[in-house]
Amino acid sequence: TTRAEFATRLVAWQRQHGRHRLPWQQTRDPYRVWLSEIMLQQTQVSTVLGYYDRFLQRFPDVVALANASLDDVLAAWSGLGYYSRARNLHRCAQVVRDQHGGRFPQRAVELVELPGIGRSTAAAIAAFCFDERAAILDGNVKRVLTRVLAYGADLAVPRHERELWSMAEQLLPDGDDMGPYTQGLMDLGATVCLARSPSCLLCPAHALCQARAQGQPEVYPVKTRK
Ligand code: ADE
Repeated sequence: TTRAEFATRLVAWQRQHGRHRLPWQQTRDPYRVWLSEIMLQQTQVSTVLGYYDRFLQRFPDVVALANASLDDVLAAWSGLGYYSRARNLHRCAQVVRDQHGGRFPQRAVELVELPGIGRSTAAAIAAFCFDERAAILDGNVKRVLTRVLAYGADLAVPRHERELWSMAEQLLPDGDDMGPYTQGLMDLGATVCLARSPSCLLCPAHALCQARAQGQPEVYPVKTRK
């Protein structure tokens, strides 16, 4: 089936070709994983590497971050840009301190309630730290999945986006591979399944990719509205 095949191939590819030695991949501490996911949202890995360890030295745990002044947090963030991320980071740390006893909740449905944590980020944290079977669907992943499934409906229509979320859930592996699966989806979208010129020959899913079978993978995701 597409489901079992896709996950198996993606996980094998991630283990062989993906990145697994990055600092935030050496831990299951949700504080550290959360920090990396927020930094990586709008910033390249190479840039994040110059900030991540220093930020953690300055704020070693979520309570230290919550207790810091916003000015100190913004100073440590300085250069990363998109400063609303730093404000939300500080607010989120305070909510974890004040409403969760200083410990991150473990489930995606709880994480998504926190400031600055959207559905994909919540799922990534839960998958990486707690092996939860939670689906991610950021821009890169939308491109990968619409192609694998040849899903041609416009995702600007909420009903269609909801449908793709549920298809993303159906593709999840069962077992203990949620970390490499989730990272594999992100890395495939960032390095192989590119918007303009996908490198299908390098793709672990090329044999089951329905867009590739149709001959024009780059038409997905389909956009009909302006
Ligand atoms: N962007 C968001 N999360 C990421 C991750 N875990 N690895 C690489 N890029 C990302």
